Amino acid sequence: MENFDTEKFNKLLSTTKLGRKLRYFDSIDSTNDYSEILVGKSHGRDLKILDGTLILAERQTSGRGLFNHKWLSPQGGLWFSLIIVTDIRPEELPNLTLITAFSISEALMDIYNINVDIKWPNDLYCVDYKFGGILSELKKDGKLQAIIIGVGINVNIDGKTLGGLDNIATSIQKILGREADRELIMAKILDDFERSYNYFSTTGDFKSLFMKWEKNIRYQ
Ligand code: BTN
Repeated sequence: MENFDTEKFNKLLSTTKLGRKLRYFDSIDSTNDYSEILVGKSHGRDLKILDGTLILAERQTSGRGLFNHKWLSPQGGLWFSLIIVTDIRPEELPNLTLITAFSISEALMDIYNINVDIKWPNDLYCVDYKFGGILSELKKDGKLQAIIIGVGINVNIDGKTLGGLDNIATSIQKILGREADRELIMAKILDDFERSYNYFSTTGDFKSLFMKWEKNIRYQ
């Protein structure tokens, strides 16, 4: 299995800010834990500089899911955290988790014609099998707040590696029957996220983003 190609990813990325600062690790405990420490050490201007940073790891040794569940993170997946520093109202922050889910759905639809079911508010399914999830965490520093959006997507993970999870989980590779392009998926997610996030933070209009993906949301 080849490592994530950061040069190829940079060429594919068309954002102005998001993901332009990349911290890439071969192995890390958890990209969310790392981001939390980074954010915790930074204040004011230093915190603002972190806005848009992407932390990406080839493997995680202590990947975490919701309710502190262990998140299996072998090589082949996309395990990353985005740091967004924002002064939007705290009650608007959950919308960023949904914007992330919409961006992943859009990327997978555009590239592979995969229809994603978003199991409210943070699980990503294809038909009845989970292939990804989002874990958003908030840190406050005065008026500014940093939201750490952790995303795990089983991209090139084979059935054997999914092991005991095989009957509840899937991967993009399993869905497609071949390996998928991790750099392209990553770049596309960030392009879509930046566009939607800029639109939302300048207009305050979440409704039209929501309406576009409403049919993909499952509430139970
Ligand atoms: C869930 O479905 O429970 C959310 C899973 C989130 C996993 C990702 S992988 C990258 C980031 N780092 C972590 O430790 N967790 C998130």
